[in-house]
Amino acid sequence: MIDYINEAQQLFPYTQSIRRDFHKHPELGFRELRTSEIISRELNELGLEVRNGVAETGVVALLKGIKPGPVVLIRADMDALPIVEETNAEYASTVPGVMHACGHDGHSAILLTVAKILNAHKDDMAGTVKLVFQPAEEGLGGAERMIIEGVLKEPKPDVTLALHLWNEKPVGWIGISQGSSMAGAEIFKIKIRGKGGHGAAPHLANDPILASAQIITALQSITSRNIPPLKSAVVSVCTIHGGEAFNVIPQEVQLAGTIRTFDLEVRDKVLERFEVIVFGMAETMGCQAEIELNRLTPAVINHFETAARVQKVAQTLYPSAYIDNNNYTTMGSEDMAFMMELVPGCFFFIGSANSEKKLDASHHHPLFDFDEQALSQAVAILAASAMDILNNPLS
Ligand code: NI
Repeated sequence: MIDYINEAQQLFPYTQSIRRDFHKHPELGFRELRTSEIISRELNELGLEVRNGVAETGVVALLKGIKPGPVVLIRADMDALPIVEETNAEYASTVPGVMHACGHDGHSAILLTVAKILNAHKDDMAGTVKLVFQPAEEGLGGAERMIIEGVLKEPKPDVTLALHLWNEKPVGWIGISQGSSMAGAEIFKIKIRGKGGHGAAPHLANDPILASAQIITALQSITSRNIPPLKSAVVSVCTIHGGEAFNVIPQEVQLAGTIRTFDLEVRDKVLERFEVIVFGMAETMGCQAEIELNRLTPAVINHFETAARVQKVAQTLYPSAYIDNNNYTTMGSEDMAFMMELVPGCFFFIGSANSEKKLDASHHHPLFDFDEQALSQAVAILAASAMDILNNPLS
């Protein structure tokens, strides 16, 4: 029997030092040059078959067990965000304006540690682990690029696993949903064109600012009046730009925002109402609208059996942990969804906040930091789940 908890704890200094090093030297999407160099150095040291430069800076390695068996893909993301770090941590970012504010530094350190543990137990392993270090998760399309460049081929994975350190919940909490896990996301841009004029003579203009205000308000009726109350959807207008002077009605206003949904029926309904409202309301107000809609990610939907297996592994390892299998979901999005659309898998959350240590700022906040205790727990569950699925394949 492998004592995953003990091995993860023994390796904690390694996990922590890698995580802190990545934290100090954050890199934005598709520019994770230093990060991926360290990752591939570490994987090469383990004697693994390593492929660099997949989707620019991605790294893919194969860890083969002694016996034949299935292929389990484990993915970690590597990129940081364009945020000025405000923590006073000794390992705070040394790169101005760039910060690991989502915990991807932790994800990469976790996966390197998992590689070490599984590599030490190759003799007990039937099948192959495909370790995937993905660039550019933060809205830049890293997962899609990796798929285009063949990450799901040769060998083709049978199961995918990934996790997110989760500051919405305290250390000790583990969230494993058996269905919907994270929302699908669309990005929209709207242009409202009217007729500019003097602020004192609005009757001679067609005011795009007033039209925008009506549109923004009316869009909120989609979730409150068109979607069944027990289903989830979000429509958020997050930017609004228009006008320069206090006495000039502008020609144009630009809006942008995001739509989040889980199921396709709800998504179709939201998008249909979205267009009707934007075009119709603009016309009513004497303006013209233009909409640009782009799909950012599909929803993350866990494969029932895989999620049940990860849940069982977590429960066995940490009988006293709070394992939330009550279908914990979030309206946040994740590009892991693209891989999971093609290969069934499980994406789960490891609570990482600690309010006593003031490590509980939310993701993407300048004060974001997590309790590093969560790292070892994540390592143990991920390594044990992969080994369990390899040695006792899912039906
Ligand atoms: Ni993230």
